[in-house]
Amino acid sequence: FGREMRYEPTTPSTQVIAHQWAREGAPEGALVIAEEQKQGRGRLGRTWHSPPQTGIWMSLILRPPIPLTDASHLTLLASVGVREGMYRVTGLPIRIKWPNDLLIDGKKVCGILTELRGEQDRVHYVILGIGINVNADVNQWPDDIKDVATSLAKEKGTKIHRPPLVAAILEELEQIYDRYLREGFSFIREKWEETAGMLSQTITARTTQGSVTGVAMRLNEQGALLIRTATGITPVYSAEVEWDAG
Ligand code: BTN
Repeated sequence: FGREMRYEPTTPSTQVIAHQWAREGAPEGALVIAEEQKQGRGRLGRTWHSPPQTGIWMSLILRPPIPLTDASHLTLLASVGVREGMYRVTGLPIRIKWPNDLLIDGKKVCGILTELRGEQDRVHYVILGIGINVNADVNQWPDDIKDVATSLAKEKGTKIHRPPLVAAILEELEQIYDRYLREGFSFIREKWEETAGMLSQTITARTTQGSVTGVAMRLNEQGALLIRTATGITPVYSAEVEWDAG
């Protein structure tokens, strides 16, 4: 991954550029990376704070030959691959929050945004947008994210050189993606479950149809989170999840 790359000193969002490039025929593994985003996009229509030089803001284009019904596999694959790359370089105890936030001590250090286009019932292309707070001075952040986010440098106590981190993440993602195409989803599910910070905990998942509170059990074959409630086991496909990480 990243053999074809576009580097932007500043851009509204690497997602926008990646979509355009994918429509123009970018090859699988093509990467857009920026120093700064003026309108970084987060999940669920939120914005993503992307100040210059302190983070990794990048979008990876994939063209997996899979049905649309398997698309959530890529979201989970991304969190496992990015976590492994970050762990390899920093050794920090990074846990996954469903579906694909990466946390250290309950604070968010990386967010992943999966956007895809389908063609009939197949995936046409996927853009994995990866945002990592690397060397940010968290005290300078806007109030709404200061208390819920952290950076690798803050947790590690030293600045972290970004290029080797990008390289490690791309390497891990490529390996895990190739293996997924050969073997399917099961090994990703296992790796995801090993590093998830919320299994066996009581959580609340807010979906567009309402909230579900119960114990987070595991993932099913589609990558949905299974929650055990008083009335049975409910699969949750898309939600905002909260729990007391205490
Ligand atoms: C989240 O809400 O947790 C996902 C955040 C994803 C941010 C990354 S930064 C690179 C790429 N470009 C964007 O505009 N968003 C993603």
